[in-house]
Amino acid sequence: MTNSDLRLIEKAKSYVNELLGQEATGHDYFHAQRVYRQAMRLAKNKDANLTVIGLASLLHDLDDKKISQGTSRALDFLKRHNVLETQEIMDIIDNMSFSSHLVGKKVTSLEGKIVQDADRLDALGAIGIARCFSYSGKKQRPLYLENSNDDTAIAHFYQKLFKLPDLMNTEEARQIALERVEFMKKYLQEFYKEWSE
Ligand code: ADP
Ligand code: NI
Repeated sequence: MTNSDLRLIEKAKSYVNELLGQEATGHDYFHAQRVYRQAMRLAKNKDANLTVIGLASLLHDLDDKKISQGTSRALDFLKRHNVLETQEIMDIIDNMSFSSHLVGKKVTSLEGKIVQDADRLDALGAIGIARCFSYSGKKQRPLYLENSNDDTAIAHFYQKLFKLPDLMNTEEARQIALERVEFMKKYLQEFYKEWSE
């Protein structure tokens, strides 16, 4: 990345921090920061545009329907800074979410695949568990109702989270995802044990 690209990344970080600093569903500034760092790691040894990856990672949740209705905060930022790859970045953001996946949308670029993997990895592991409970609390959903196909936090593990390893685009992300799912299954064993004590 050139120095001016790096300055743009720093600006995107401050912008996201300003807008999502207090966000409480797990789509907060630190999520954006982790997706950014994970995406940069996944991009190593690949011929990908790091500026596109960096900006898409940082801005990807600014207009997510779960936290904001009808805004264009990501696009506003990119236009304000005359980013050449604006369209490419917006295509990634518009197509990468799990809900987009469910309606058949796909990311096609290498950069999009990497950012999507990084975002999905953050729904797994210890942090993934925390985000799932946090989001469920916000939605006033129960923790657990002794079922795996209802609207509870624990059911979400089975409905979505455990499916993520098979949805990864890159082999590196799939490996990390499998390790994180293994940890989550151990966590569930303990959860069920305490539940039935
Ligand atoms: P994406 O932005 O990739 O589509 P989501 O916004 O669906 O991902 O999920 C972001 C976080 O919110 C994840 O950690 C996920 O586990 C959690 N989450 C999303 N939907 C639910 C749900 N129905 N119940 C519990 N947690 C959820
Ligand atoms: Ni996200």
